[in-house]
Amino acid sequence: MSDLNSGNAERKCLIEAVNVDKSYSTKREVIHVLSQTNLQVFSGEVLGIVGASGVGKSTLLHALGGLDRPLTGSVLFKGKDIYKQSNGYLDKFRNGHIGFVFQFFNLLPDFTALENAMFPALIKNQDNRSARERAEYLLCEVGMKDRMNHKPGELSGGESQRVALARGLVNQPDLLLADEPTGNLDHHASDQLIELIRKLNQEFNQTFVIVTHSQRVAGKLDRVMELVDGKVSPTKENLII
Ligand SMILES: Nc1ncnc2c1ncn2[C@@H]1O[C@H](COP(=O)(O)OP(=O)(O)O)[C@@H](O)[C@H]1O
Ligand SMILES: [Mg+2]
Repeated sequence: MSDLNSGNAERKCLIEAVNVDKSYSTKREVIHVLSQTNLQVFSGEVLGIVGASGVGKSTLLHALGGLDRPLTGSVLFKGKDIYKQSNGYLDKFRNGHIGFVFQFFNLLPDFTALENAMFPALIKNQDNRSARERAEYLLCEVGMKDRMNHKPGELSGGESQRVALARGLVNQPDLLLADEPTGNLDHHASDQLIELIRKLNQEFNQTFVIVTHSQRVAGKLDRVMELVDGKVSPTKENLII
């Protein structure tokens, strides 16, 4: 919608949430999580989303990634409302344009790092050889050249998350969404992962949205928005800049 947000006039909006409402109904109550929430993600940026536990960060990320339909409002990907397209569009959108990285890695335990990283490409019907080449290339990029044939049980947390990052990028997504990607890592592995994300951002102009509750991680990102009471606003650091 508006690329003319203050300070971002020259930047292209890749995806945006517009007036998104989301609530969950349980037997006892209705929990309002997102309320007329607006967020723009610009091409080529590493955007952080911070906020207290339970505030709705994952809910917002899932709405952006086509995983969870908002009650009202829209999610516009390159200007197109992803939740108002014909049947089957959301699957294609997710497979074709979005990569996901989760806190607990979600690697398949019986498969090697290479097979795990190839998986989304095979699901997308890419032939085995090109899927393998792309996965091998990415595993080298994330420093896992010597661990490709290891299974997740033989990898550290930091190594597992680097494999998950390679898997998330295998289909060359426009946007990589990461939900607390360092939540299960120690400081050293966390710093390494963020450095790697920054390297991939620089090398490939890869866009990232990273949900984190770590100030340490947030401090290393380009732009950080905070979710409070269903609304997203710039953090103090952003305001000073
Ligand atoms: N499927 C669900 N059913 C009911 N409540 C949910 C569901 N998913 C999330 N919630 C609630 O919505 C709120 C926001 O959840 P979430 O987006 O996971 O927060 P965060 O990622 O910021 O910790 C929390 O109060 C959570 O308990
Ligand atoms: Mg969460």
